[in-house]
Amino acid sequence: MTPSSILVTGGAGFIGCHTVIALAEAGYRPVIFDNFSNSQPKVLEGLRQILGFEVPCYRADCTNRAALLEAMRRERVSGVIHFAAFKAVGESVQKPLLYYSNNLNALLTLLEAMIELDVRDLIFSSSCTVYGQPEQLPVTENSPILPPLSPYGNTKQIGEEILRDVARAGEALRIISLRYFNPIGAHSSGMIGELPLGVPNNLVPYITQTAIGLRAELVVFGNDYPTPDGTCIRDYIHVMDLAEAHVAALRHLEYASIPAAYYDVFNIGTGKGASVLEVIRTFEQATGKIVPYRIGPRRLGDAAAVYADASKAHKHLGWKAHRTLKEALADAWRWQLYLHKTAHLLSASNS
Ligand code: UFG
Repeated sequence: MTPSSILVTGGAGFIGCHTVIALAEAGYRPVIFDNFSNSQPKVLEGLRQILGFEVPCYRADCTNRAALLEAMRRERVSGVIHFAAFKAVGESVQKPLLYYSNNLNALLTLLEAMIELDVRDLIFSSSCTVYGQPEQLPVTENSPILPPLSPYGNTKQIGEEILRDVARAGEALRIISLRYFNPIGAHSSGMIGELPLGVPNNLVPYITQTAIGLRAELVVFGNDYPTPDGTCIRDYIHVMDLAEAHVAALRHLEYASIPAAYYDVFNIGTGKGASVLEVIRTFEQATGKIVPYRIGPRRLGDAAAVYADASKAHKHLGWKAHRTLKEALADAWRWQLYLHKTAHLLSASNS
C-alpha cells in the first residue's frame, strides 16, 4: 500500500520537524511546506541523517494559495498538519497586525485550498494559552476559554473558532485542534531541536544556553507565587511525545468512524506540573551541569500554575506522554552540545 502523504506546514520548525520524524516512523510520507522565516534549512540535513532519506520540501508561504495547491496536488496529499504561524508572545503584543494577518490568513488560505482539492483531514496546532490563567487545575478541555493574554493567543482562539464554524457548517473536513502545554526537549539523536532566534524567551532554551556559557545567568521570573516553592508551575512535555500525539490524532481521523464534518479539541500535556526551580534542579541532575540563576521580578502575564488533564486524548486517541522531564532535559542538553560542536566545526572550516 502506498503511504499517505501528509503536508506539514511549518515542518522545518521546532514541533514540525519532530512531527515529520514521528510521521515517517508511523509509515506516513511527510511533505514539508515552510517559508523558513523562523527556521533554518539545515534542519533538513538533520532529518535526512535521522531518517536516512530526503523529506520533500516546498519553500513557500502558507498565505500563497497557488503554492499550497501545487504542493498538495503534486504530492497527492491526503491530510495536513498545520504548524506554520508566528509564535512569539511578546512580539505579538508589539506587532498585532502582523500576527493576525499572518496566522489567520495562512489558516484561511489553507482551508480554502483543502476544500478545493477535497483534502479532508486537518490537525491544527493550538495552545493551552487559550485557557489564559485557569481557575481550576488540572485544565480540562471544558475549562472556560478566557480573554486572550496576547494577540498571539488570540490568533489561536480565533483559529479554533474558525475551524469549529467550518465543521458546523457541514464542510467535508475532519479537524482536530491540539492544545499543547509546554513543549521542550529534542530528538534523542541530538541532531534536531529548538533554534531560538536571539535571546530565548522560553525557559528550557535559556537554561541550556546558560549551562553552556552563552548566557551569564538565568533570571527566575518571581518566587512569590502561590505554589509550593513560590515559582510558576507548567506542564513540560517532551517534543517527541507531542509529535506522536499528531500521529495519533491523524489515525483517529482516518480510522475512527467519525462524521464527514467533524471538529474536536484535545489537551496535549503530561498531566504533571513542575516548578521553575524543579526544572533547574532536574536539569542539573540529568546533565551534571550547574545553572547559575537569580530570582528576579515576575514576568507580566505569567499564570501561577498551568497543567493539563490529558485524559481525553488518552481515552479517544489512545495517546499519552511517556517520556520524563529528566529525559526531555537531557535531550535538550544533547542538542545544545551538538549546536555548540557544529558551530565550532563551521567556524574552523571557514577560517
Ligand atoms: N521563566 C523564567 N525565566 C526565563 C524564562 C521563563 O523564570 O528566562 C519561567 C516563566 O516565568 C514561566 C516558565 O518559566 O513560569 C515557563 O516559561 P516559558 O516562557 O518557557 O513558557 P510559557 O508557559 O510562558 O509559554 C508557553 C509557550 C507559549 C504559550 C504559553 C501558553 O511558550 O507559546 O505557554 O501558556 F503561549
